[in-house]
Amino acid sequence: MANLEGKIAWVTGSSRGIGRAIALRLARDGADIAIHGRSEGGASRAHAEEAAEAVRALGRRAICVSGDIARKDEVGAAVAAIEEGLGGLDLVVLNAARAPFKETPRLLERDLRMLVDTNLLGHVFCVQKALPLMEQRGGGSIVFISSLGSRYMNPQYPLGPMKAAMEAMVRQWAEELREKGVGANAICAGLVKTDSYKTLRRIWPELSGLPDEAFVTPEEVADVTAFLCGADAAAISGQTLIVDRGLSNRILRAPTTE
Ligand SMILES: NC(=O)c1ccc[n+]([C@@H]2O[C@H](COP(=O)([O-])OP(=O)(O)OC[C@H]3O[C@@H](n4cnc5c(N)ncnc54)[C@H](OP(=O)(O)O)[C@@H]3O)[C@@H](O)[C@H]2O)c1
Repeated sequence: MANLEGKIAWVTGSSRGIGRAIALRLARDGADIAIHGRSEGGASRAHAEEAAEAVRALGRRAICVSGDIARKDEVGAAVAAIEEGLGGLDLVVLNAARAPFKETPRLLERDLRMLVDTNLLGHVFCVQKALPLMEQRGGGSIVFISSLGSRYMNPQYPLGPMKAAMEAMVRQWAEELREKGVGANAICAGLVKTDSYKTLRRIWPELSGLPDEAFVTPEEVADVTAFLCGADAAAISGQTLIVDRGLSNRILRAPTTE
């Protein structure tokens, strides 16, 4: 367990999926949590409220904030709500992602803008807005959630190049934020069975033939996130840890169910 007692964490896109598991793990380790979904109402808000209740059941404070990370004004409003509701910020997990599943030649201009605005600029907006709060508390940690698409081509997965750009950006942040006491690292996660995996499986039917051991659970990604947020990871800076149960290591002899 990482000792995160007294820390305040914002996990973007924590209303469901991997982000939700990360929020619960950080709460178990002692942190108060800002749960974040894209929209103010509807299913997004209902999922966020449910995740916040689960955090409270662990004895930690939780608030729900919303906002599209692609919009700097909405990110600013979410961070202001965290300051008001929880009193500051120590840990930021950049987990939210949104992307079309299409081959690159078919991407419309609006697809491309959404890709870059959400998955590149959006994370930069989050760091820019969170930084003053983290500095006020003497520093903190940023963890970015990447995917194997950052280094391997996946069909109809234009999110991959955005993840590669973010892994490079994390190296930049690690140096630029060092003197502010803020650390930055990334996790490159393997395949995880979340809502977005249902779409991936449709586009990439071979995935259905993979055995369970080829998949990482949201909780396993959360465990490594908690480690990177804690004091035991103080010597790790600007790195991307691959958390994929060895899938990429044995890519030329992929496991089969036989
Ligand atoms: N699933 C995988 O196999 C896999 C593998 C490796 C890495 N990853 C990475 O892990 C992260 C989480 O993936 P996931 O599969 O858990 O995703 P998911 O189940 O689709 O959940 C996405 C979360 O992000 C939020 N979100 C989406 N767009 C947003 C935006 N523009 N602004 C703010 N919040 C936004 C969603 O909020 P709403 O509920 O409001 O929509 C939701 O909470 C992503 O960065 C993904 O690339 C996933």
